[in-house]
Amino acid sequence: MDLGVGRAPGKLILLGEHAVVYGHRAIAVAVSLGTTVRLRPREGPTATGPGSVEDPRMRAALAAALPQSGLEVRIDSELPIGRGMGSSAAFTVALLRARAALDGRIPTFEELFRDGFALERAFHGNPSGLDHTVSALGGAILYRRGEAPVRLNMTRRELIVLDSGSAGDTAEMVAGVAARRPAVDADLAALGAIVERSLDRLNDPEALGALMTEAHAGLRRIGVSTPRLDALVQLALDNGALGAKLAGAGGGGVVVALTAAPDPLLRAAAELGIVAMRCMVPEG
Ligand code: PMV
Repeated sequence: MDLGVGRAPGKLILLGEHAVVYGHRAIAVAVSLGTTVRLRPREGPTATGPGSVEDPRMRAALAAALPQSGLEVRIDSELPIGRGMGSSAAFTVALLRARAALDGRIPTFEELFRDGFALERAFHGNPSGLDHTVSALGGAILYRRGEAPVRLNMTRRELIVLDSGSAGDTAEMVAGVAARRPAVDADLAALGAIVERSLDRLNDPEALGALMTEAHAGLRRIGVSTPRLDALVQLALDNGALGAKLAGAGGGGVVVALTAAPDPLLRAAAELGIVAMRCMVPEG
């Protein structure tokens, strides 16, 4: 018998990564892939149960958020870890929702934001706050550093996420871009301008797809793509995608493709042994 259940979505940066570090706006979307935390009664100290996702970094968050005894925790997640899809934020927000459900409460956004930020420090040291903002709010979010997030109207549609198979190091990628300034400043401004141009085209898949592909070219110019990510973008475009780009910090992580007919891309990915995930955005 579950005493408390919480679920929260992961995220993808649809447009504007890296430029957002320099004051431009970015768009992030909550995805239908997410993490569920279930709390059940247990004799003795609180501990994860059989079949649960296990990650040593989760222990500090569990210890901080839950009573020290009496609970079995089961964590299920559809999100790849370390791919820029906000798996740790989804876990912390799901955990806080499950904890509140123990008391029959639904936590407010402010509570999820404050406590999620504190718990996420156990994973990242210095989280930007974007991941758990999107996870807690859901939807499509227009985000500028230091400003309140704005929810965007975006029709729900399917995206295909292609996993590069390796993690990108966000801090390292951000530092790399900083080191290439001012040579990349015009490209960063162009990436920011793509976000502004996309705002009245979010519900036009062909236009949005073209802007995503344009953004990938810009991300490539600022030096955060890799041959593997470029190949995944090309694979998507060769198999009917309306657009594709790396999503997140780059250097690894995932490519996101917008496509009206996913089957050819899913087949091509399967033939090449590439992990492809279907997801709906925005979630919630
Ligand atoms: O690694 P991710 O997917 O959380 O993306 C980082 C986004 C950057 O713009 C590269 C960095 C940031 O803090 O905004």
